[in-house]
Order: sequence, then C-alpha cells, then structure tokens
Amino acid sequence: MNFSEKLKDYTTKINKALLLAAEQFPKNNIVSEAMAYSLLAGGKRIRPVIAVAVAESLGGDVDEALCYGCALEMIHTYSLIHDDLPCMDNDTLRRGIPTCHVKYGEAYALLAGDGLLTYAFEYITKNAKDKARAFDFMAYLSSMAGIGGMVGGQTDDIGAEKVKVGIDALKSIHARKTGALINAAGAAGAIAAGKDASFAEGYTKSLGMAFQIKDDILDVEGDAEKMGKTLMKDMNSEKSTFVTLLGLDEAKAQLDAETKKAIEACEIFGTRKDFCISLAKAMLEREN
Ligand code: IPE
Ligand code: IPE
Ligand code: MG
Ligand code: MG
Ligand code: MG
Repeated sequence: MNFSEKLKDYTTKINKALLLAAEQFPKNNIVSEAMAYSLLAGGKRIRPVIAVAVAESLGGDVDEALCYGCALEMIHTYSLIHDDLPCMDNDTLRRGIPTCHVKYGEAYALLAGDGLLTYAFEYITKNAKDKARAFDFMAYLSSMAGIGGMVGGQTDDIGAEKVKVGIDALKSIHARKTGALINAAGAAGAIAAGKDASFAEGYTKSLGMAFQIKDDILDVEGDAEKMGKTLMKDMNSEKSTFVTLLGLDEAKAQLDAETKKAIEACEIFGTRKDFCISLAKAMLEREN
C-alpha cells in the first residue's frame, strides 16, 4: 500500500471504531446525541492515525493503539466543542456543519464536551486488552489533556487575544493547546509497542508545533469550504498566532523547519519510518 492508501485504511478503521463507540452511548439522551453529532462529523482523525502509525512503525499492537487513539479523538472532539463556545472562540461552523452549541444549545454542548472527556477514560477501561499499559497511557493522556497540557494552553490562548505575546510565549501556548494531544497520540503508539510514553516525543513535539503553525496559516489563506470552519477568525479577534506575530512568510519558514525536525526524528522508527515521514509532509501540505 502506498501512503494515501495506508492513510485511508487507517482512517476507515478509526471511523468504524468511533461509530461503534458512539453506538454504546446511552440511548434517548440529548447529550448522547450531541456527543455523537460532533464525534462522527468527520475530521481528519490525525491523532488516532498517529497512534496507530507509531505503533505499527515500532512493531507494536495496532489494535491497542487504535483503542487509545479513539479515546484521544473523543478528548480532541470535546476540546473542539468547548473551543467553539461563545465564551471561547465563538464559532458557528466546525467540520463543515453547525457547531455543537449552535445545533444543541450551549448547555448541552458544554455537557457533550464533559461527556466525551469522561467517556474517553470509560472507553479505555472497557476496551483495552493490557490493563498495565492502559494505565500508563491514561496517566500520560490525563497529564497532556489537563491544566499542564491542553487546558493550560487554551487558558493562555485566551490571554493572547488583543495582546501581542512574544514568540516564545506563543510557542509554549501551541505546544500545550495542540502539541500536548499530539504527544498523547505518539504515546498511544509507543505504549502499545511496549515503549515509554515519551519514546516518540521527538517526532510528535515538532509535528504538533508544525500542525498548529499550519492551522494559523490556514486561518488566513485556507479555503473555507475545504476547512469546514470560519476563516480569518484569528485576525478578526486579534489573536496572537505565528501569522499575526511573524507574518505569513516567516510562519511558513518556521513550519518548514518544524516539519524538517519531525522528519529527522523519524530515525527512531528504523526501517519502518516511511509512513511517519510521509505523514509529516502531508501535514505540511494539508488544505484542511
Ligand atoms: C483543530 O484540529 C484544532 C487544532 C488543534 C488546530 P484538527 O485540525 O485536527 O481538526 P479535525 O479533527 O480535523 O476537525
Ligand atoms: C484549538 O485551537 C486548540 C484546541 C481546541 C485545544 P484553535 O482555536 O486555533 O482551533 P480552530 O482553528 O478553532 O480549529
Ligand atoms: Mg481556540
Ligand atoms: Mg478555535
Ligand atoms: Mg485555529
């Protein structure tokens, strides 16, 4: 299989597993419906893809990584639902459809986020085969998703509106609001291969930074239809981003540099490094 066939194969498996998971949400409950609405709305599934790709590249248990990766996608989806709320980025479109709060109202959207966050852990405890490894993953995942990671990054991101922060402060925000969950994706694969949670961090730290720089760039020059979200949001809310702080050209130069670092870090995958290298390149060139 070439890279795009393999990517399609991974995302098909991930989408099937997420559909099965959503079918287990309690029936006849409006918040269950809202959780499934956002979880199954599409999305690139990049975090579970990284999880299974890292596991496979390290000769690990791909099904176990898929389980961890699906849980991570639930946490990522919760972060998007909350990120879109009127009190946060106030967005009306996500993954090409109305945001969760536009469709279900703010209270149910808030609860759908809470529900997905908690279900992620319930999902792992119900589906993981190796309880010791699952515990290690949940320990790492919770530290990456919480106040020391994504939540902390989102906190400082709010403080970086209408105030120009320095580039080092911005890198710290990006490393946490986006990078932390990308690290968790790498950890899912590493742990499923019997390695330490931090084994693939060299790869995922650069990949996560590149991913958010590209998100900042796409806000300015993306195609709204392909992106499935409202563009020029960062500009209009005067948010500090790589583009607003450094300009488009320098943001692109930094994106190239982080992608190069991610590719160099793929040496840890030995002879099976090709997919992770191609994935880093695809993230650089992505249009959504
Ligand atoms: C969007 O994440 C939010 C960021 C962290 C940049 P994605 O670009 O992975 O969104 P989906 O999952 O494909 O919708
Ligand atoms: C979102 O960053 C990061 C998280 C949801 C944790 P953004 O606010 O830039 O993401 P988009 O552009 O709305 O997808
Ligand atoms: Mg935001
Ligand atoms: Mg946002
Ligand atoms: Mg953005």
